[in-house]
Amino acid sequence: MSRLDETGAGLPDTFGRVAKDLRVSLTDRCNLRCTYCMPAEGLDWLPRPEMLTDDELVRVVDIFTQLGVHSVRLTGGEPLLRRGLPDIVRRFAELEHAPRIAMTTNGIGLDRLAGPLADAGLERINVSLDTIDPERFKELTRRDRFADVERGIKAAQDAGLKPVKINAVAMHDPHGKDNPAELLQWCLDRGLELRFIEQMPLDAGHTWERQKMFTGRELQELLGERFSLSPMPDEARGSAPAELFLVDGGPATVGLIASVTAPFCAACDRVRLTADGQVRNCLFARDENDLRGPLRAGATDEELADVIRANMLAKRRGHGIGEPDFKQPDRPMSAIGG
Ligand code: 5AD
Ligand code: SF4
Repeated sequence: MSRLDETGAGLPDTFGRVAKDLRVSLTDRCNLRCTYCMPAEGLDWLPRPEMLTDDELVRVVDIFTQLGVHSVRLTGGEPLLRRGLPDIVRRFAELEHAPRIAMTTNGIGLDRLAGPLADAGLERINVSLDTIDPERFKELTRRDRFADVERGIKAAQDAGLKPVKINAVAMHDPHGKDNPAELLQWCLDRGLELRFIEQMPLDAGHTWERQKMFTGRELQELLGERFSLSPMPDEARGSAPAELFLVDGGPATVGLIASVTAPFCAACDRVRLTADGQVRNCLFARDENDLRGPLRAGATDEELADVIRANMLAKRRGHGIGEPDFKQPDRPMSAIGG
C-alpha cells in the first residue's frame, strides 16, 4: 500500500482483473525490419519531443508501482536503442516500491549491454528469435544480423540474467529452410527457454489473415514428431500466457502462447505505457489515455493516477480477434510494446 493507493485496491478493471505488470515501450525505433512487423523502409518514428524523457518515465513508473504494479517489462521497438538504458533500469530499481525488471529485446547490442543492465538491476530477459538459419533470419528481418543476436544471447547468459527466454513467432516457412523443432533443439542445447507465440494482427501493413496463421496446435503436432511433449499442470502457468510442456520428460520446457486461438485475456494482469506517454490497457485497445500532456502541464501524482485508473476501468473483456466487430489497432506492435 502506498500514499496513492490507501485502500490497496491497486488497478482493477470491471472484469475482476488487477494490473500488476507494466510494459514500458522505450522507443518505437528498431534496427530490424521483421516482415510481420514493419515495412522495409521503417515507419514514421516518433519525434523526440513527443517521447517521455528519462525523468518523466521514472515519475510515471513510480506512480504505477505505487498503484500496485510489481513488475516492469521494457520493450520497444527495440529497447536497447534507448540511450542511457542502464541508468533508466537503475532508477526503476531504486524506486520506493521497486518493481522486478525484465526486458524483451531482439538481442542486437546485448553483447555490450547485458553486463551493465544486469548490474543496474535487470533480472530477466526475453530475446526474440524466429529462426537459427542465418539466411532465413536475413529474409525475415531484412538484416544480416543473426550472429549479433547469437552473441547477445550468450552475453545475457554470461551476465547472469535468468532465465533467458527465447520468443519465436510461429510461422510456416515457405522455403522449408528451417523447422521449429530445430530451433527448440538449439535452445535446449544452450539452456534457453523457448516460447512460441501465435502471430497476431499487429503488423504495420495490416496484412494478417486468420487462415494463414500457424496455430499453437499445429506447432504442437510438429514438435511432437521429434520430441515428447507432456503438458505441465496449469498452476505452473498463473497469469503467464504460455501453455508449458515438459520436453522429453523435462526438466526443460517449451511454451506455446496461443494468443489468437486460445486467448488468455481472462487472466491478463498487464497494462502498457507507450514511448510517447499513453496508457493502454490492452495490445488491442482502441483508445489510450494521455499521461504526457497532463504531466507536462504540472499534474499531481494523484491526478496522473486518476488517468491510469480510468484507463483500466475501460479495459475490455478480451481482444475479440475473429469476432465480427474486431478492429486492428492503429498503432503497430513496434509502437505499442510487445
Ligand atoms: N504477433 C505476435 N508476436 C509479435 N511480435 C511482433 N509482432 C508480432 C505479432 N504480430 C513479437 C516479436 C517479439 C515480441 C515483442 O513480439 O517477435 O518477440
Ligand atoms: Fe524490430 Fe521487434 Fe518489430 Fe522485429 S518485431 S522489426 S525486432 S520491433
